[in-house]
Amino acid sequence: MIIPSLLTVVLASLVGTSFAQGSTPIVYDSIHNATVIVGTWSSGSKAVQTGSGFAAPANMTFNYPKTTGISYSFSADGFYEIARYRFNSNGSEPTCITGVIGWVHGTYTLNTNGSISMVPLGDGFQQIQDPCAANSNFVESYNLTEYYQSWRIFQDPTQGFKLHMFQFDGSPLAPQFLVSATPNMLPTENLLTAASSSSVSRRSEPEPVTTSNAPEALGRHWTKSAISAGVLVLVSATVSLL
Ligand SMILES: *[C@@H]1O[C@H](CO)[C@@H](O)[C@H](O)[C@H]1NC(C)=O
Ligand SMILES: *[C@@H]1O[C@H](CO)[C@@H](O)[C@H](O)[C@H]1NC(C)=O
Ligand SMILES: *[C@@H]1O[C@H](CO)[C@@H](O)[C@H](O)[C@H]1NC(C)=O
Ligand SMILES: *[C@@H]1O[C@H](CO)[C@@H](O)[C@H](O)[C@H]1NC(C)=O
Ligand SMILES: *[C@@H]1O[C@H](CO)[C@@H](O)[C@H](O)[C@H]1NC(C)=O
Repeated sequence: MIIPSLLTVVLASLVGTSFAQGSTPIVYDSIHNATVIVGTWSSGSKAVQTGSGFAAPANMTFNYPKTTGISYSFSADGFYEIARYRFNSNGSEPTCITGVIGWVHGTYTLNTNGSISMVPLGDGFQQIQDPCAANSNFVESYNLTEYYQSWRIFQDPTQGFKLHMFQFDGSPLAPQFLVSATPNMLPTENLLTAASSSSVSRRSEPEPVTTSNAPEALGRHWTKSAISAGVLVLVSATVSLL
């Protein structure tokens, strides 16, 4: 009789643990989110925004915004897009301020435990400018799955709807304000494969378009001179954006 009851206690505590770890469904009511997450959100001065003005994935270039910030867009049919631009300073090397600009899109899920999962489409990229590094300016692929612990939307009396998102480790992102209830996003498909075939770094000749839905607005050619000297395309996820 002792063993079964011990088992019961162990099982009960296991259930309790998984319950405590956040399997309780979140109620997405107006207290949790004063409006839907669908739309385009932008932090601070709102100079950084997703959509056509920020990045050109087909040739892996950026239009640098005037100021740093972040922008997230969510569509009603499950796609997200992120634009980020920031500077990192290094305490031990105060003059070595690194600039990081990045773009990525893919599909997102609002999980029942209140978290958000984002799975990229494979054409995300970022540019690192580090004046103190041997390779001071390079572009690399960015294809990390992202996980956000939680999110909330409040209504700010002066600035309107305000989105708060918390990263995998609980640290907050800069609050973002709703700039458009209709999301401003690039076409929700892999724009690199839509623009050319798999090899990115050697393309200088026009490529036949293999998919019928390649967007016209985005160039099909990889232009070698596009980015200054040391262009490095790495399928690597070692440099995290946040
Ligand atoms: C929340 O749900 C997601 C998706 O099901 C899962 O990956 C994550 O581990 C859950 N988080 C917690 C804290 O249980
Ligand atoms: C909060 O978000 C949920 C999940 O997307 C949505 O169904 C609900 O309508 C939102 N609440 C309001 C007040 O818009
Ligand atoms: C800061 O600079 C030092 C010296 O160059 C380097 O070892 C360290 O990794 C840098 N830290 C960060 C966070 O980049
Ligand atoms: C990007 O990441 C997703 C999710 O992990 C994966 O399915 C996909 O194959 C990756 N694409 C590339 C080009 O690495
Ligand atoms: C990259 O593509 C964009 C969008 O088509 C275009 O406006 C821009 O001029 C291109 N940049 C380079 C350096 O080819």
